[in-house]
Amino acid sequence: SIVRRSSIAGVSYVSRRGFASGSAPERKVAVLGAAGGIGQPLSLLMKLNPLVSSLSLYDIAGTPGVAADVSHINTRSEVVGFAGEEQLGKALEGADIVIIPAGVPRKPGMTRDDLFNINAGIVKSLCTAIAKYCPNALVNMISNPVNSTVPIAAEVFKKAGTYDEKKLFGVTMLDVVRAKTFYAGKAEVNVAEVNLPVVGGHAGITILPLFSQATPKANLSNEEIVALTKRTQDGGTEVVEAKAGKGSATLSMAYAGAIFADACLKGLNGVPDVVECAFVQSNVTELPFFASKVRLGKNGVEEVLGLGPLNDYEKQGLEALKPELLSSIEKGIKFAKEN
Ligand code: NAD
Ligand code: LMR
Repeated sequence: SIVRRSSIAGVSYVSRRGFASGSAPERKVAVLGAAGGIGQPLSLLMKLNPLVSSLSLYDIAGTPGVAADVSHINTRSEVVGFAGEEQLGKALEGADIVIIPAGVPRKPGMTRDDLFNINAGIVKSLCTAIAKYCPNALVNMISNPVNSTVPIAAEVFKKAGTYDEKKLFGVTMLDVVRAKTFYAGKAEVNVAEVNLPVVGGHAGITILPLFSQATPKANLSNEEIVALTKRTQDGGTEVVEAKAGKGSATLSMAYAGAIFADACLKGLNGVPDVVECAFVQSNVTELPFFASKVRLGKNGVEEVLGLGPLNDYEKQGLEALKPELLSSIEKGIKFAKEN
């Protein structure tokens, strides 16, 4: 890659322009909900990503402070904070990727679906603005319940005439991050080498880790696999309970969201063979949306990959999750159609 070097007062440095016009194209990333528990560390991590040239931090309040803070970090992207609905258009204009961690988190005793009444409306209004100001952007939906917010987004975009199924993603990366961590611990293998898909959706039993496909291979007992599956499915609740009323996963989610956005950026930039799991429009099962491995490319989803071989336990898990996942999808579609 070509980098332009300059020198001021005898100190040589790699110029911003040199970087921008060198190997990595200009990319604008907008974070909606950037002042929140996920939004702040996610904004930090996106500021560290050299593929980002412009970082747009939007929330209903608090973003000028977050943006000023993050902007002092000496990495490539420029950072601008936008607060309040009247600034949402400016925040979105020209965005290549919009990451949405806006909305309320769970407290102990709640399901993700209990967040529907508040978050459905938030997601709907943000997606209406996306359709208007950056209809070609990839959308990374983090706001829960993901099993419903993604179908809501799809309906909003359909109504606006901007829907492109290749560009809408429910972020299920945290399930993959957890499954890898828990598997490595149990299998006593190097966590950095672990890979496995997590399919289905993002709530309770709809989260289906496919440990039979995990690499490096390990000889775990059925009981161990059942326990790992359950821990992955209940990973969010484990954090909600440990935080005891102070919200849900934020730091691990920021990490997962940043890796997924990085994969999307690499795909946009033409890096070959970028494959991650995400909740997307799908023909992998009879359900209209489903999480599975997805190949990312210059237009977003290049290919939705199949499930691969499932063992009997995973086949049972797949059949068991379908009714709940379908009803969450339908709930989202119904909300978007009626509101
Ligand atoms: P939080 O309350 O700390 O932050 C949410 C932020 O959203 C706040 O700053 C709030 O001002 C902002 N917000 C609310 N309405 C908005 C609007 N209309 N426009 C822009 N911003 C708005 O919550 P959090 O812990 O960051 O969690 C956010 C969401 O992410 C929750 O719904 C949570 O359930 C979800 N989540 C998803 C995953 C996942 O794996 N997909 C993981 C963790 C959390
Ligand atoms: C998670 O999986 O951590 C998130 O979906 C947040 C939650 O409510 O569990």
